[in-house]
Amino acid sequence: MRRSPAPVLLSLTLLTLFLSATPAASWRPWPYLKTNHSDLVLGNNKKFEGSSEFVHLKYHMGPVLTADITVHTIWYGTWQRSQKKIIREFINSISAVNSKRPSVAGWWKTVQLYTDQTGANISRTVRLGAEKNDRFYSHGKTLTRLSIQSVIKSAVTAKTRPLPTNPQSGLYLLLTSDDVYVQDFCRAVCGFHYFTFPSIVGYTLPYAWVGNSAKLCPGVCAYPFAVPDYMVGLKPLKSPNGDVGVEGMISVIAHEIAELASNPLVNAWYAGQDPTFPVEIADLCEGIYGTGGGGSYTGQLMDDHDGSTYNMNGIRRKFLVQWVWSHILSYCTGPNALDQ
Ligand SMILES: *[C@@H]1O[C@H](CO)[C@@H](O)[C@H](O)[C@H]1NC(C)=O
Ligand SMILES: *[C@@H]1O[C@H](CO)[C@@H](O)[C@H](O)[C@H]1NC(C)=O
Repeated sequence: MRRSPAPVLLSLTLLTLFLSATPAASWRPWPYLKTNHSDLVLGNNKKFEGSSEFVHLKYHMGPVLTADITVHTIWYGTWQRSQKKIIREFINSISAVNSKRPSVAGWWKTVQLYTDQTGANISRTVRLGAEKNDRFYSHGKTLTRLSIQSVIKSAVTAKTRPLPTNPQSGLYLLLTSDDVYVQDFCRAVCGFHYFTFPSIVGYTLPYAWVGNSAKLCPGVCAYPFAVPDYMVGLKPLKSPNGDVGVEGMISVIAHEIAELASNPLVNAWYAGQDPTFPVEIADLCEGIYGTGGGGSYTGQLMDDHDGSTYNMNGIRRKFLVQWVWSHILSYCTGPNALDQ
């Protein structure tokens, strides 16, 4: 889940000044940033400016995912084998023991710092579970927040090989192909998470949706591997696995899994006064991938031999994944932080 985007687009002269002082400033090049220039001034982003004293991340006593997490993927629409492979390898990398540093597993260590009422940490283990293909767009090419629940229902009640129902430690990850529009996609969200309603699905299952933005809005949801037209002069970064849409999804999938683990029923770890609009551990760091990141600047990243850019290693592949908030440090952090 995400809050409304922090209204900030920095002029380059202000950038350096702002970055050095700002531990958390969620950012994506949302379309409204282009049209309403009065929103683009630095002064409107006072919420996090200066220091983390503005971030009051609190624990609200609900469960977190402390048992081994199983991710059940629903591939909605048309997916290539190569695309599925990148995403599966990313999810498998979360608990991989031998990846080179900085690693995806190192990134997950910050998520593991979060505990429940009993002091139990979020599980170290995230594994891929049974998957479901929904190749023929069972609920059409335009989905709403509610019809997403019907897609999940179809997957867990299918006549052949239904997905297992696992409300305790299952995560249901609905991934839509690049020809599917989901409510608010590109305009205000690239993905979100919530839980299913027993009245629709029969169970309360934590789920996330993430869309492939390759056709609809790569400059928004696959940023910085694509940039919107209005950011004149800014070149997109080369993605490490050669699929801009899917690699834009990787960071959003990571964002949603981190939040599902720490706030699966939206009553555990979040900031903000409004429980219907919680600001969660990945919302606080969206757009920040390395030391110094903030605004349209990703922070310090690494270059591969082929000119592609990444910030962490997984199994066999490299990925670019946003950081998450550490309530111990009171700032965003990741395995590639330069001060570690
Ligand atoms: C632009 O943003 C300002 C300040 O948030 C607001 O007062 C104004 O109504 C907005 N204009 C448009 C056209 O949305
Ligand atoms: C569990 O959480 C506590 C509190 O954040 C932290 O000190 C500890 O290192 C965590 N344990 C693991 C294995 O991450």
